Amino acid sequence: MIVDRFVRRRASGVDGVQVNLDGGRKREVKNESIVYLNGEFVPKSEAMIPVEDRGFLFGDGVYEATPAYHGEPFLLDRHLARLSRSLEGLRIGYDVAAMPEIHRRLLAENGLDDVPFSFVYVQVSRGVAPRGHAFPSGAVPPTVYGFANPIVRPPRSRWEEGFAAVTYPDRRWGRADIKVISLVANVLAQQTAVDAGVEDAIFVRDGMALEGTNNNLFAVLDGTVTTSPASNYILHGITRGFVLERARALGFPVEERAIPVEELRAAEEVFFTGTSTEIRPTVRVDGHPVGNGRVGPVTRRLFDDYVKMTGSGGDAPAA
Ligand SMILES: Cc1ncc(COP(=O)(O)O)c(C=O)c1O
Repeated sequence: MIVDRFVRRRASGVDGVQVNLDGGRKREVKNESIVYLNGEFVPKSEAMIPVEDRGFLFGDGVYEATPAYHGEPFLLDRHLARLSRSLEGLRIGYDVAAMPEIHRRLLAENGLDDVPFSFVYVQVSRGVAPRGHAFPSGAVPPTVYGFANPIVRPPRSRWEEGFAAVTYPDRRWGRADIKVISLVANVLAQQTAVDAGVEDAIFVRDGMALEGTNNNLFAVLDGTVTTSPASNYILHGITRGFVLERARALGFPVEERAIPVEELRAAEEVFFTGTSTEIRPTVRVDGHPVGNGRVGPVTRRLFDDYVKMTGSGGDAPAA
């Protein structure tokens, strides 16, 4: 059950961050954000988790992140279905039935109703118990935490310049399809990208370019929109699935198959998809230009369509 423990104080997005409103207006957000923890909505500084939480000790938990456009979660059913699958994958007993309301409240409490683009993060860990690898004996309630933050989409002029990526060995466990909170391999890969001055890292396993650290990878190969198959080696991105559907609907040939790194390097176009990434064109991989080094027409067509389908039209102002 969700409880109103405190007298509601309407927070405005995330602490101390500037968010863009419609029409280019900006709002300085200073109030403390409101988070969800185990049935309550509380100011972030009041949300406390015991040190014996298994999420903290073992990374023993799962999470989900859903985009929202103008305060409306996008494809929430699909995200919650994946959360249920992740919970089953880790054998954590938690019913996601309260999640739509938690999402709605987090967006409202944080003043994100009128913000063009934001996201809701929820995480469920196996709960609090004395440290021991096996599941705790007895009934231990899971720890459920959530927050909502604004996202600033890059201005279209920046998007049109394209972005860059580096390849990186995939050292994750063999169940990348479960959205676990243990993300240390992704953290190290993403830091390598940052150190290289680029936006994304591409996980490579057995010579195949699989996906990014927090997004899925697509390549246009001989005119075919291609992405890794939905195996245990990638996260089955909700944006990935949606973009595949839209690509088919728009008449592009589509194929789900493994992409050898050499083929990726010779691709006409490369882009990433994801909740916060949306559709991001990659024009350099490992320092080499992709195609003619410019954002390609297929990526642009898919992004324009995505903007339309999400109702997030207009050139989002610069961060
Ligand atoms: C490893 C990985 N791949 C792909 C994605 C993209 O998934 P989605 O489109 O559902 O955000 C994510 C999202 O966090 C991710 O962590």
